Amino acid sequence: MTLLVPLLFAAYLVLYAFALALPPFPHVAAIEQSPLQQKPQYSLDEWLQREEDIALDNLLANVAPFGRNVPDAAPGSVIASPSKNHPDYYYQWVRDAAITTSTLVDLYADDPFDPLSSKLEIILNAYASLQDELQHTNNPSGSFLDLSGLGEPKFEADGSPFVGSWGRPQRDGPALRAITLMSYLRAYNSSNPSLWTSDEGPDWFKPLYDAHMPANSIIKADLEYVSHYWNASGFDLWEEVQGLHFFTAMVQLRALREGTLLALAFHDSGAAAWYTQQATLLEEFIPTFWDSSKGHLVETLSSPRSGLDCGILLGSLHGSPAANNTVPGTPLYAPYSDEILVSLLALVYDQRNRFPINSAPPASPEETLPLGGVGLGRYPEDVYDGYGTTPFGGNPWFLCTSSASEILYRVAAHLQLTHELEVTELGMPFWEALLADAPSFADLKPGTYGSNDDLFADVLERLKSVGDGFLEVVKTHTDAEGSLSEQFDRVTGFERGARDLTWSYGAFLQAVRARGRV
Ligand code: NOJ
Ligand code: NOJ
Repeated sequence: MTLLVPLLFAAYLVLYAFALALPPFPHVAAIEQSPLQQKPQYSLDEWLQREEDIALDNLLANVAPFGRNVPDAAPGSVIASPSKNHPDYYYQWVRDAAITTSTLVDLYADDPFDPLSSKLEIILNAYASLQDELQHTNNPSGSFLDLSGLGEPKFEADGSPFVGSWGRPQRDGPALRAITLMSYLRAYNSSNPSLWTSDEGPDWFKPLYDAHMPANSIIKADLEYVSHYWNASGFDLWEEVQGLHFFTAMVQLRALREGTLLALAFHDSGAAAWYTQQATLLEEFIPTFWDSSKGHLVETLSSPRSGLDCGILLGSLHGSPAANNTVPGTPLYAPYSDEILVSLLALVYDQRNRFPINSAPPASPEETLPLGGVGLGRYPEDVYDGYGTTPFGGNPWFLCTSSASEILYRVAAHLQLTHELEVTELGMPFWEALLADAPSFADLKPGTYGSNDDLFADVLERLKSVGDGFLEVVKTHTDAEGSLSEQFDRVTGFERGARDLTWSYGAFLQAVRARGRV
């Protein structure tokens, strides 16, 4: 044993050095070490079916009440990961909690009378009550009085404030929480159609939304926060840099657009006008994240980083209105927009060449390789290795890899719905890469394609298969039990960082749901 540890470490170092020194086919070495070898060989469909249950079970294990990993957590809390040290993720992050709870809302909305939904209803009601408490908890970001405390990114598992130093405030949290609770309010309302007009209605709805000012309801407080603070700088979703961020702005815009509709439903016309006004300003502001010289969106304005970032994909996914709540007009930077697709392409190319476990880089930069699934990390300059920071420490993340497939499936679903594909000069690099080895590649030029065109059919087929390619990567690097941590090693492919990351499961489940609609 005493000998084994240094030996293993030495073997790791050799493998690492070997893989780094091996362009252009470094992945060969990595595949030989793949954790896949110890696992049963399932087809993607078989594996997805199995993993969907595992992911939901492991996600719920981190949610109180009921969760087996979180017996001491306040009811309604969603813990980022059960890992209490190396790294310590045993906290409730407002962002992670809202994002994964919105997945639970979607499951509830699928069939509110399913046995699972009675359990989910208890969790969702507890989540809502706890958010009310967290909003009113004085914390290092501030207090409820001027709403500044709503920018606090994380709380202890029991709901008390986290007082250590941290990147705060983070202004995406209130927007994400409002989106999740609005979605729950709509789902609950449609499964209990008489509640709205009944005498008991106000008991249920008022804690969530009430026109009263100063705000005394959870969603309204969050919408007030978003509408007053969206143009103030804060930390990004990765909790590292202060500034104005694409992800944050996108979810803020969606919160205000959906908030407008909610305010109207509650006859809160003054608020509806105010949210619309601020949403319109945000909508004028967000296009400044487009960098025409780089040819992609950037995650943070005036940042020394390249700007390529998984936060762009997540901003599009979480910032695009839910299908059941169609906000009038064309949504900004939806998954099928040219700007998102070319940004996705640029991020994929960067990460493909950056991480040894990903496929071979093209022989020349001009060569168009067919787009395929690769492990995606947060952003090129990342140095966080899951436990601490090291030079070149960044690795692919499960949630980013899953989000790429969700984007592609959502594009496919959109095309199926509209029966029309608009290819523009701007989007051309993406379509070229997508269709590089498709029969209709030769026909590709800017224009409009209908569902009877071969090219349209090829695009649909490729979106689906490339989306599957990203999920194949998730499959390859998952362990035999189906557990998803935060990251997987750029060289060995093995899982690393916080184990059983709630958000990894949520992002995976959302991707699989999007796949089901194609
Ligand atoms: C923990 C943060 O949550 C993560 O985003 C960051 O990269 C690391 N600390 C390193 O600063
Ligand atoms: C680090 C990530 O960067 C951040 O986005 C997340 O909220 C926390 N970990 C908790 O999962």
